[in-house]
Amino acid sequence: MVSGAAHWDAAYSARAPETLPWANPGASETLPDVLSALAPGDPVLDAGGGASPLTAELLARGLGPVTVLDLSPRALDRARAALGDRAADVTWIAADLRRWTPDRDYALWHDRAVFHFMATEADRAAYVASLAAALRPGGQAVIATFAPDGPETCSGLPVTRYAPADLAATLERHRPGGFAPLSARRVIHTTPAGRAQSFQVSTFRRL
Ligand SMILES: C[S@@+](CC[C@H](N)C(=O)[O-])C[C@H]1O[C@@H](n2cnc3c(N)ncnc32)[C@H](O)[C@@H]1O
Repeated sequence: MVSGAAHWDAAYSARAPETLPWANPGASETLPDVLSALAPGDPVLDAGGGASPLTAELLARGLGPVTVLDLSPRALDRARAALGDRAADVTWIAADLRRWTPDRDYALWHDRAVFHFMATEADRAAYVASLAAALRPGGQAVIATFAPDGPETCSGLPVTRYAPADLAATLERHRPGGFAPLSARRVIHTTPAGRAQSFQVSTFRRL
């Protein structure tokens, strides 16, 4: 099974971003969590941001600076094209979160539908190491994954589903004392094809 950049490049090449199963117009499912965590001038990383409209929503509110990191160069091309001139205001990083060393710190880490693709303990350990390295003490991480009653696959790949307590325990296992859970809630995502998918959205503080 191909699950690296080639897989995601193919997904973003096959369909317009707004028709992909994870499309979320206006980034409405996690935007409230992001806005409640952010102050003006806070640097934001959209980790595995793909072609998400979150960046446009933040720029429209004068928030950021915003960095979008994704494994798929094609996804980043799509995201830049959607933003037009405003793309120049964003930092774009084509990288694998599992093998990434940040060169600055962030006040907010946003991940919608990325961590649940971390398929092995080694993947999860590497992700949490990047999260811990990137997020400044006191910074917040908003992490949205499929919930226990969510789908078992996405984009043809297996996922790990999390209740908020499972996610908190996973972060704690890989970075003991590194993150404090602040809040969690349930969100139902409706795909463009009309299917309902259960997510949990958890917010953590970096200790
Ligand atoms: C389901 S999509 C979600 C995209 C975006 N977060 C959103 O809400 O629209 C998963 C994204 O994670 C990216 N991704 C998957 N594995 C990754 C990794 N190891 N490092 C960086 N990005 C990754 C994919 O390229 C894809 O853009």
